[in-house]
Amino acid sequence: MTARLAHKRILLGISGGIAAYKSAELVRRLRDAGADVRVVMTPAAQEFITPLTLQALSGNPVHLDLLSPAAEAAMGHIELARWADLVLVAPASADCMARLAQGLANDLLSTLWLATRAKLAVAPAMNQQMWAADVTQDNLALLRARGVAVFGPASGSQACGDVGEGRMLEALALVECCAEQFETGRLTGRRVVITAGPTREALDPVRYLSNHSSGKMGFAIALACVEAGAQVTLIAGPVALPTPPRLQRIDVISADSMLAASLQAAAGADVFVATAAVADYRPATVAEQKIKKTADVIQFELVKNPDIVAAVAALPEKPLVVGFAAETENVVAHAREKLLRKKLDMIACNDVARADIGFQSDDNALTVIWPEGHCVLDKASKTQIARELVGLMADRLQDVMEGRVDK
Ligand code: C5P
Repeated sequence: MTARLAHKRILLGISGGIAAYKSAELVRRLRDAGADVRVVMTPAAQEFITPLTLQALSGNPVHLDLLSPAAEAAMGHIELARWADLVLVAPASADCMARLAQGLANDLLSTLWLATRAKLAVAPAMNQQMWAADVTQDNLALLRARGVAVFGPASGSQACGDVGEGRMLEALALVECCAEQFETGRLTGRRVVITAGPTREALDPVRYLSNHSSGKMGFAIALACVEAGAQVTLIAGPVALPTPPRLQRIDVISADSMLAASLQAAAGADVFVATAAVADYRPATVAEQKIKKTADVIQFELVKNPDIVAAVAALPEKPLVVGFAAETENVVAHAREKLLRKKLDMIACNDVARADIGFQSDDNALTVIWPEGHCVLDKASKTQIARELVGLMADRLQDVMEGRVDK
């Protein structure tokens, strides 16, 4: 289970209830499982446990106020909402659940709840009579209907002396529930190959041509595919990123070596995702020795690199092929042209003219295009965008498998 929450960003909301003491243990267990945890407390929660305790355990400042200029300057509430992969409210009191169900935004936690596109979950904790109340059950049904995961509650003896349903799940059980949120199963049994990062094209033994691709988008897609149950091969150009868990990584340097690895891995694959920023050209010859600094002007002849994604799309038994396009103008029109020219099944299009997303950034926004339609994925973390894209890929694959569309 440990690897399942590695680098997951969990925003833990604590509302006012005696079970808040268990949230301290929960923070520790989430961090043991590899998650990054930030804590938001309602004013009532602070009557039960101190922010200092949770700050020490989470290793991050605790977020308390919606209208605090200092807190907003450090990490604004919209940024925090965007940061999260999962927002878990534990304990979720009856009052808190009512406010979340009704969409109130009268404190930091309820505002974040509305402002995030992350997965949402509650771990209810309250007196058994309050839990059984019709209005609480109605609120619960509303939350469930909107896709909110409900963890627990358990039944047993309660702090107030009652016995019944309404106890918050224990920390380890909650960690297990959190981990399950990241497993969609949409690509179970499928083989996915992903190219990521830049390529480097050698000029001589010490110099090369390359670009600024960080590989973050491709790595996020690889992780989202793993979480969707796929068997993943990640073909990575030179990047400074840790290997996501539970996949096979093949490191390559040049476009030629990326092509060779891609053709080999694509045989028998169900999906091929080309996120790599492959260098378009490489030096026609590579000097055997370091080029000396004697001439005032040097000219290099460059030759075109092979188009990896087009080569995979031309395979007789081709997988579903998803390409990327980085455009600065007429984004959708250019991407659609590329979709047809390279015989892709889907293309995800970045607007690289926007300064707030793209290459080195942790955020991205995409327009995803396929022959019969398109879909806009608004700005979010690359992790979140990757999940949404993988959902679209899985839909498309299903349409192909069930004969509704051709590859
Ligand atoms: O033609 P352009 O470089 O804009 O196409 C981008 C798409 O094609 C991306 O999916 C990229 O990974 C892929 N590509 C490739 N091999 C190349 C150039 C681009 O696989 N040599």
